[in-house]
Amino acid sequence: MLRIDIITLFPRMLDGFLTESILGRGIEAGHLSVDVHDLRKWTTDKHRTADDRPFGGGAGMVLKPEPVFAAIEQLQTPGCRRIYLTPDGIPLSPALALDLSKQKHLVFLSGHYEGIDQRIRDGLIDQEISIGDYVLTNGTLAAAVVLDALARFIPGVLGEEKSLTHESFTNKLLDFPQYTRPAEFRGMSIPEVLLSGNHAEIEKWRHARQVEKTSSVRPDLLN
Ligand code: ADE
Repeated sequence: MLRIDIITLFPRMLDGFLTESILGRGIEAGHLSVDVHDLRKWTTDKHRTADDRPFGGGAGMVLKPEPVFAAIEQLQTPGCRRIYLTPDGIPLSPALALDLSKQKHLVFLSGHYEGIDQRIRDGLIDQEISIGDYVLTNGTLAAAVVLDALARFIPGVLGEEKSLTHESFTNKLLDFPQYTRPAEFRGMSIPEVLLSGNHAEIEKWRHARQVEKTSSVRPDLLN
C-alpha cells in the first residue's frame, strides 16, 4: 500500500478532499493511506513560528529550516521520496503521476509565500514538482492535485481499468464528447452514430472528434 504524508501550514485546506469521491473510497478501501501534518507541530517556540524574513532583504516570509527538518526526519522512511511542491519544479505529467503511484512512501512538503530556506531543498528534498505555470498562495492545493492525479494510477482506485486507457493524455489526444440519456433534450439531439450500435463506426467517430478537438485546443500535443 502506498503511504503518503503531507506536511503543510494549512492542514484544514485538505478537509473534505480526502474523504470524498474516488479518493475517499480508495483510502477507505486501503489502496493508499494519507496523513496530513501541521508543520507547526514541529515548532518549538511559544508563537509556533514556522517562517521568518529573508536574508538579503525582499518581500515575503521564508519557511525556516528547523521545523521542516524535524518534520521530515521524523516522517521519512528508507527509500521514500521527499517532494517539494513549487512553481519552479518539474511539471506534473501523466508519466510522473504514474511513477509516483508505484512508490511505497511519498512525503509532500507544501511551501508558502516567497518560498522556503534553500537548505531544506538541498538537504531534504528528492524531487520538486510544479502543477503548472501559475503561482498559488501555497503548495497545499498543489499537493492535493498531485495526489489526485497519482491515485488514479493505483490499481483498484478507479473502478473500471478501461476508464484509464480511453481518456485524455494517455494517447496524447483530448477526449471525445460524451452523451447520456435523454437522446433528445430541449431540441438538441445526440449524434446519430451513437445510437447505431455499430462499434467500429462509433470508434471511428470518436477518434475523429478527438483529433478535431486536439487540433483546435492543443495543437502542441499533435507535434
Ligand atoms: N506552489 C505555488 N504554486 C505552485 C505550483 N504552480 N505548483 C506547485 N506548487 C506551487
